[in-house]
Amino acid sequence: EMAEKQGYDHFMLKEIHEQPESLKRLLEDNLKDGKIDLTASGLAENWLDNYDKIHIVACGTAYHSGALAKYLLEDKLRIPVEVEVASEYRYRNPIVNDRTLMIVVSQSGETADTLAALRLARSKGASVLALTNSRDSSIARESDMLIYLKAGPEIAVASTKAYTNMVAAFYILLIDGMRQRDDISEELVVNYTSDLIKLPEMIRKLSQQSKEQIEIIANKYAQKENIFFIGRNTDYTLALEGALKLKEISYIHAEAYPAGELKHGTLALVEENVPVVALGSRADIFAKLFSNLKEVKARGAETLLITEENQKFEADSVDYLIELPVLNKDFAGLLAIIPLQLLAYYTALNCGEDIDQPRNLAKSVTVE
Ligand code: G6P
Repeated sequence: EMAEKQGYDHFMLKEIHEQPESLKRLLEDNLKDGKIDLTASGLAENWLDNYDKIHIVACGTAYHSGALAKYLLEDKLRIPVEVEVASEYRYRNPIVNDRTLMIVVSQSGETADTLAALRLARSKGASVLALTNSRDSSIARESDMLIYLKAGPEIAVASTKAYTNMVAAFYILLIDGMRQRDDISEELVVNYTSDLIKLPEMIRKLSQQSKEQIEIIANKYAQKENIFFIGRNTDYTLALEGALKLKEISYIHAEAYPAGELKHGTLALVEENVPVVALGSRADIFAKLFSNLKEVKARGAETLLITEENQKFEADSVDYLIELPVLNKDFAGLLAIIPLQLLAYYTALNCGEDIDQPRNLAKSVTVE
C-alpha cells in the first residue's frame, strides 16, 4: 500500500495532487486541433436541437458537479435544466419524454439510486448521457452516450479528482453547446476553450502555493464544532462540496448556504469565532457576497475569503484570505476546489481521523 501511495501519507492527498494530470487526460480526449470534439461520446453534432430540457441526476459529490452545471448550462444554452439527487428523483414520477436529455454523473458507475434513476428516465423515453469514471460499469453500459472521465482509480472515499473531472466534463459540454447557439459569438467559444486548457496548470500551481496558509487555518478549524460555507451561484455549489469534504473526513459539522439565505435563519448560529468560509470567485456578484461576509463578521465570525487575486475589498472584514488565479467567471469557481480539498484534508489530519476510510462511509453505495 505504501508503494501505491507514492510517498504521500494518504490516498486523498495523492489524488488531490494528481488533478492536473487527470484533468489533462480528460481534456486531451475531448479536444481536437484546439477545439472541443465530443464525437466519441456519441452525442449528435447539434445535440441541442434534439432536446427540450436536461435532467441531471447523481448522488453525493457527483450531484454537486451537476448543481454547478445547472447554473452554467441554463445561463448560456437557454435550455431548462433540473438537477436532483437520485434517491429523490427516482421516487417522484418526474416528467420525462423523448426530448429529455438525462445526464447521470457517477464516479463508480455503480451507485444503486443513480442507476435506478437512469432506468426510470430511459423507460420514459429519455436519451441518457453518462459522465462516469468507469467504462465497464452498469451506468456506462446502460447509457446511450458516455463521457469517460478518465480521472484514474480513486481510492480515498472522499472524492477529489473525480469531482474535478466531472465539472470539467460539464465545461466541455457547455462549450460544445455554446458552439451551437447563434446568439453566442465564436470568440467567446474560443476564449472559453483556451481558459479550459489553462486549468490544469493553474490547479498545479494552486495546490503548491496554498498549502502553508491552509495548514494554519486547518489547525484552528480542528478545534471548532461548526463551520459554515457561503457562496452565490456556482460558488454556492462549491460551498456545498467544500462542506461535504470537511464533514465526511473531519467529522466537524459543516453546512453550506446560498450567501443570501443566511439572514433567513442560519445567521442566528453565527457568534464569536465561528468560522465562515466565503467563496467569492465570481467577479460579477462579488459585491453581494462580500456584503454577506460583512454581516457575519459584524457578529464575530472568523472569516476566510477565497477570491480572485486582483479582487478589491475591505481587508478588515477578512481574517484569512486565499487567492485564486484570474479566470472567466464561469470557470473560476472550480479553482476553489483545491484549497477546499486541502482544507478538509489538513483539518482531518489535525483531528487525527482515518482520512482515506472515514467511519460509516463507503466508496461506492451499491445498495439502497
Ligand atoms: C458515496 C461516496 C461519495 C460519492 C457518492 C456517489 O457516498 O462516498 O464520495 O460522491 O457515493 O458515488 P458515485 O460513484 O455515484 O459518484
